[in-house]
Amino acid sequence: MVFREGILEGKSAVITGGGTGIGESITLALARAGADVCVASRDPAHSANVLAEVAALGRRGLAHPCDVRDAGAVEALFARVKEAIGRLDILVNCAAGNFLCPAEKLSPNGFRSVIEIDLVGTFLCSRAAFPLLCERGGSIINITATLDYQGVPLQAHAGSAKAGIDAMTRHLASEWGPRSIRVVAIAPGPIGDTEGMRRLGGGREAEIARAVPLGRLGRRDEIASLAVYLASEAGEWITGTTLVVDGGQRLKGSFL
Ligand code: NAP
Ligand code: COA
Repeated sequence: MVFREGILEGKSAVITGGGTGIGESITLALARAGADVCVASRDPAHSANVLAEVAALGRRGLAHPCDVRDAGAVEALFARVKEAIGRLDILVNCAAGNFLCPAEKLSPNGFRSVIEIDLVGTFLCSRAAFPLLCERGGSIINITATLDYQGVPLQAHAGSAKAGIDAMTRHLASEWGPRSIRVVAIAPGPIGDTEGMRRLGGGREAEIARAVPLGRLGRRDEIASLAVYLASEAGEWITGTTLVVDGGQRLKGSFL
């Protein structure tokens, strides 16, 4: 299949955490490729800007305030998508929370909060999206990370959550493949101009970039382009795997 313009024309997508950072770039890339989009996150202000850009692209955009830890709120999100847009083809689980913290100092609630946003939130959204995705087949794209590959210090909470999402990606791909639902994960390396990099990089961006074999931080659009590819018919034989997009950073060990 040739990767063509308008490849997602007529499709509809939900992007959790789709109003800021990598999620914002994914929302706009899906809209540019032709999809209608629904942005779901806690703060409505985070969706406002991106929806204006979606409208300028001539695509339908919807914002739905939702905490992905809340099963009832997640059910309401997909009920709204069904009512307002009528169909769902693509779910991008991008919502996440993170901070640097030594494991022995991390409170039980601190660990639980990150597991609940990243891992439980991904499950709740995938589960609630399932009936809509079953109608025509579709894809779930989970945004994970490479943190657990090297066991990065100060990241036991986020690394454990992302490793769980990678595992869930394989489980759901296997279970839902016969329903024509593909489940794939993207693991970005350090990406510039993001909240994640601000929180984890601590002002060491230039040093981190030099240590990447390709000599720079990743760009948000580089993750978004892969999401479009995976969501489209170009990626229709890909499921149950995590694709690493990190300029080779994982080969060099932890950057923390
Ligand atoms: P970001 O802009 O802070 O993205 C996180 C998003 O999640 C925000 O839009 C936030 O919106 C939403 N969110 C947080 N808690 C939520 C909740 N409980 N319910 C619903 N939405 C929630 O950070 P980013 O750096 O671009 O990260 C985006 C994704 O890429 C994350 O999954 C992250 O783990 C992954 N990643 C990033 C990097 C990097 O270098 N930046 C590297 C590897 C992986 P609200 O505040 O409005 O809720
Ligand atoms: N270090 C250690 N623990 C921290 C922390 C930090 N920097 N920030 C928060 N916590 C702990 C809190 O102390 C609290 O635990 P406690 O009740 O035992 O004190 C727990 O985490 C929850 O904090 P709270 O602020 O109530 O959570 P929240 O649900 O409002 O927010 C976070 C979730 C903490 C992940 C917040 O940072 C967030 O909203 N992040 C979204 C944006 C983001 O992280 N982007 C980067 C993505 S890679």
